Amino acid sequence: MKILVTGGAGYIGSHAVRRLLAAGHDVWVIDNLYLGHRAAAPASGLPADRFVEGDLADRPLVEKLLKDNGIESVMHFAAYAFVNESVTDPAKYYQNNVGGTLALLDAMRAVGVKQIVFSSTCATYGNPVKVPMPEDHPQAPINPYGFTKLVIEHALHDYHHAYGLSYAALRYFNASGAAEDGSIGEDHQPETHLIPIILQVALGQREHVTIFGTDYPTPDGSCIRDYIHVDDLADAHLAAIEKLAASKSEPLEVRCNLGTGVGSSVREVIAACEKATGKSIQAVEGPRREGDPPELVADPAGAERLLGWRAKRRDINATVASAWKWHSANPNGYSDK
Ligand code: UFG
Repeated sequence: MKILVTGGAGYIGSHAVRRLLAAGHDVWVIDNLYLGHRAAAPASGLPADRFVEGDLADRPLVEKLLKDNGIESVMHFAAYAFVNESVTDPAKYYQNNVGGTLALLDAMRAVGVKQIVFSSTCATYGNPVKVPMPEDHPQAPINPYGFTKLVIEHALHDYHHAYGLSYAALRYFNASGAAEDGSIGEDHQPETHLIPIILQVALGQREHVTIFGTDYPTPDGSCIRDYIHVDDLADAHLAAIEKLAASKSEPLEVRCNLGTGVGSSVREVIAACEKATGKSIQAVEGPRREGDPPELVADPAGAERLLGWRAKRRDINATVASAWKWHSANPNGYSDK
């Protein structure tokens, strides 16, 4: 299949590109490199002539890319995903995550591309009313980032009914880990995610990690999250795009969680990082971070039912070890920011 991957030079996008190429698909990437990394595209195995530096808001460029290459399906990763920043600068999030996606959907309609896999998030659920969270959990985001993703889920649903768009909205829990061979990994600027922050302590780049809240109603008092390996996410995207393609005559609508179904606390993640790195990690107990629910764990049954996909890597130690392989070999990430 000929697939356009938006944001394919980013963390999750580059792992998906690698997986799609391994499965024999023809892949093109568009990325504006605002957060993505130029070196991630070749590192994922993408041929140089398949990379386009550009923005989704550039409608003529996107339309030409889709048309000239006979693109059949789109995987849409390009978005901003810093929860705190979305609170302080919501316009940036609505413009890019909503505006950029609507421009992409318009270009697809103009050219007749009718399949899309969309990166959604468990942040569309907001505060959990039950854990593990199934797909029919109420969707009530508590920050603009979550709202922007929910707006697009609604748009996809409406476009499906009105225009016959076939889509899969995949709601990720906490993406983590890195390709097992160490070729690509996680590099965010600024880094806000727990595992890379802890590994930066192991590398001597930070003095300590702060545990955001130790008085939560959880067994050890720290927050619990569902850390899903990025290669499992990539497998799920492959399963989703192949499922949409297999049902060409009847447009599909798929919405599912991508998580392991297993929760790990902040303290457990720190312990896993100590094990993986062989170093003692200094952890400082701090106050709660605003907007953090105590526990977010996926009910992954929907993805198994709808996509035949189940996370293979459910051991936090193995996930952290794969992240350490990347971070220890690339202490400054892609060194391009
Ligand atoms: N944490 C710390 N110290 C840190 C960083 C994080 O204790 O220095 C804790 C957080 O409080 C949280 C857990 O580690 O309990 C994981 O935090 P991350 O920032 O790594 O991830 P989040 O769960 O906040 O965010 C992730 C995705 C978002 C998505 C969100 C949904 O990164 O894109 O899940 O809630 F929106």
